[in-house]
Order: sequence, then structure tokens, then C-alpha cells
Amino acid sequence: MKMVRLDKICSDDIFFVSYPKSGTTWIRYVINNYLTNDSGKNFARIELIPDMHAETEYCNSLPSPRMMKSHLPFQPEFNNIIYLCRDARDVAVSYYFHYKKYKHLKSNDSFESFLNIFNAGKVNFGLWNDHVNSWLDNKPMRFLLIKYEDAIRNPVNEFNKILFFLGYNVDSTRLLSAIANADFSRMAALEEELNKNEPLLKNSNLDIPFIRKAQVGDYKHYFNKENESEFIKIHYSGMKKLEYIS
Ligand code: A3P
Repeated sequence: MKMVRLDKICSDDIFFVSYPKSGTTWIRYVINNYLTNDSGKNFARIELIPDMHAETEYCNSLPSPRMMKSHLPFQPEFNNIIYLCRDARDVAVSYYFHYKKYKHLKSNDSFESFLNIFNAGKVNFGLWNDHVNSWLDNKPMRFLLIKYEDAIRNPVNEFNKILFFLGYNVDSTRLLSAIANADFSRMAALEEELNKNEPLLKNSNLDIPFIRKAQVGDYKHYFNKENESEFIKIHYSGMKKLEYIS
């Protein structure tokens, strides 16, 4: 697990926390574009909400109050949390393609073989179930839970919640435009451009897009009954708390 450390944590730092592949790029991109009133040119570097793991020095240089992305499990010194979650089964599929894109897997490695390492927590940021439970069982006072699936179904509602949490009165027209500018097809088209010169993308396997599918329930195309039930056993408590299973 990458345990990047910032020089200091401030009590007014706001962290957009998620387990990898839960949709944080999209969520942060919309908020960034809303707050800057700009359509955003580069979703790989989100200026107002940088990645504390990939852009640590930049985060260290920012004045308070800062907003940052983090994938860390529970950190007692993080006070203000927007925690984004996604159905673990879709996360696993998305992570599989991410690992292939960034060449942590061979191109012919199967989803089934990836599940072995995902279910053992031997991926960056550990076991999904431990990650979600670490936050859900230790919520700080200022904690907002957002589900990726809710944001897909009703983006206005979920982005309103985030902006309210951040202390803004929401301008609906501006929010609608920020959401439209960050929709899947626009971001996918932007990715084509970014692939040419953005280091975070251009050195990856370009046959696998980062803005990949964004489909709720995509896991149904990859799991069989057997490995799904095994998966649910391992991630049961987190999936249950988040109502991904009944
Ligand atoms: P899929 O691989 O299921 O398509 P993260 O940003 O945390 O790495 O999450 C990546 C996931 O968010 C990917 O899921 C990606 O396609 C999805 N995503 C990216 N842009 C999106 C958008 N504009 N709307 C919805 N989902 C998006």
C-alpha cells in the first residue's frame, strides 16, 4: 500500500476519499469545474482537488483550506471527509482493467486470476472491505457519504450534497453545465487528446481507456455465480453496510 505522507495535515483540510476505481476522477472534475466556472481541460490533474499520492509536493505547497484526493484507509487526523463508495463488484472489474492499463497484469491475465489478488487485498490500498469499514466505523464529525451509483442516477442531487458540505450556495444552471461538461462521452473524447501529452496517460496501455464504461452492474459480465458468492463472503460487511446486498 502506498502510504504517501503530506508534510502536515491541517484541521480544515478537506479530503475526497475513496477506494481506487470508485469514480473519484469524475466527482472531483465536476466539483473543480463548477467552482472554477470552467469546462476543464485536464481531468488527469484536477487543480482544486489534487491527488495527495501523485501530487504530494503540490499539495504541500497549497495554502489552507486545501481540498485533496486520498485513497487512504481511516486516518484519525483527517477531519473533513467526502467518502465516495461504489459496489465492490464493479470496483473489482474497473480495477482489473486499470491494472491491465498500467501493466501490473499481463494482457492475457484473466479476471478470475485478478480476483485472487483483489480478494486477498494484495492490490494498492488493500482490501476493499477493510477500507470501507475503516471509514464507516470511524466517521469523523464532518463526514459525507456519496455512492457512485446515486451520482450516476441523480447527479444534481449528489453534487448538490457535496457543494453544500463544502459550504457553497448552489447555482443550479452552473451545476447543470458542470455536470454536462463532465459527462462520460465528453471525458472520453478529452482522454483521446490527453493521451498524446499527459504523462499519467500516455505511458499506459492506450488500448484500455481510463474513461472506460461507467456502467452500474458491469460486474454481471465478468462474475459467475461461484466467484460472486465467494466475493460477497469476503466483502460482506462493507457491502451490507452500504446496502449493495440485502
Ligand atoms: P469503469 O472502469 O467501470 O468504467 P476512478 O476515477 O476512481 O479511478 O474511477 C474510474 C471509474 O470512473 C471508471 O469506471 C470510469 O469509467 C468511471 N468514470 C470516469 N468518468 C466518468 C464519468 N464522466 N461519469 C461516470 N463515470 C465515470
